[in-house]
Amino acid sequence: MAKILKATPQAIKDCKFALEHSQVIAVPTETVYGLAANALDVTAIEKIFAVKQRPFFDPLILHTNSIDKAQTFCDFNPLADRLAKCFWPGALTLILKKKAIVPNIVTANLDSVAVRCPKHPIFKKLLEELPFPLAAPSANPFGYISPTSAEHVEASLGNHIEIILDGSDSTIGIESTIVDARNPQNPKILRPGPITQEMLRDALKLEFDYNPTRENTDEMSELRSPGMLKSHYSPKTPLELMPLENLECVARGEIECGVALLFLKKPAFLKTLHESKRKDIFWLSEDGLDLHIAQNLYRQMRIIDAKAYKRILAEKLTTDDGLNSALIDRLTKAAH
Ligand code: TXA
Ligand code: MG
Repeated sequence: MAKILKATPQAIKDCKFALEHSQVIAVPTETVYGLAANALDVTAIEKIFAVKQRPFFDPLILHTNSIDKAQTFCDFNPLADRLAKCFWPGALTLILKKKAIVPNIVTANLDSVAVRCPKHPIFKKLLEELPFPLAAPSANPFGYISPTSAEHVEASLGNHIEIILDGSDSTIGIESTIVDARNPQNPKILRPGPITQEMLRDALKLEFDYNPTRENTDEMSELRSPGMLKSHYSPKTPLELMPLENLECVARGEIECGVALLFLKKPAFLKTLHESKRKDIFWLSEDGLDLHIAQNLYRQMRIIDAKAYKRILAEKLTTDDGLNSALIDRLTKAAH
């Protein structure tokens, strides 16, 4: 079992010591918890892949606490400068040309590297203490639902790591937006996230290309980034998406035994249903707000997944503006 440490000065020292000695630890971020190790230490990075059972062809994100430090391991350009100034620290990951100092294992031999400065105060504090960046994928077994609390990490990886730094629940709840910023004239959103296409466009006065079916293109197969493949973030229980009307119909009829229903917003008709049915009905928010849906998405999927249902029927989002684009991405991948 891992030790779950409250973020005292001693805990930060213990984390630093572990990281300096090639250990892998779990850290809180504002998006999801990460499984962190010294990005410049190949032995430590190999442990991340082993603990997560992640294939070596899936590259990692580097985390650091300043643009200056980030510039020591990748080539910035004017667009990257502006993006970093607007959105760091925060939930934006930039793909930039890699410098030689970054070991190839981190980037799966690509000549690009993913980098972000996170906002979580505890993670920031730890990064400030370190002379090296941290590589950190989400702290879940490969392909499973990302963790948004120390308890989530403990439940699936607690037997493989010694320290989980506790930073309470992740306030955002879904992974960072990934932007390929290598070509300043043609930036691309590779993974939609909390920094939305609209936010990027409004801040930079520039279009950010996003193609949700990019998985099928040559460009994507070249990138070989499973985080962007069709199946990911999945509960063990098969999940199927359906429009609200259909899900409501199922709820009002005879719900098949072993089926859980997941609504985006607490259904108003819940009160009218018989007690015996209500236990199979779940929701991602009280109010239908995208921010709240994102915060609860992985937590609620884990709760349902632990209840041994045979199937989850989840409400499909109908519009893809703002944060919905990221929610559609995660729910579609969970359903695949
Ligand atoms: O919010 C987040 O980004 C969280 C927290 C812990 O920071 N991290 C995270 O890491 O989601 P991970 O490893 O679960 O997802 C990173 C994604 C993967 O899909 C990976 O393939 C992609 O980033 N990636 C990393 N380096 C890349 C590169 N050079 N080119 C394209 N994609 C890359
Ligand atoms: Mg992940």
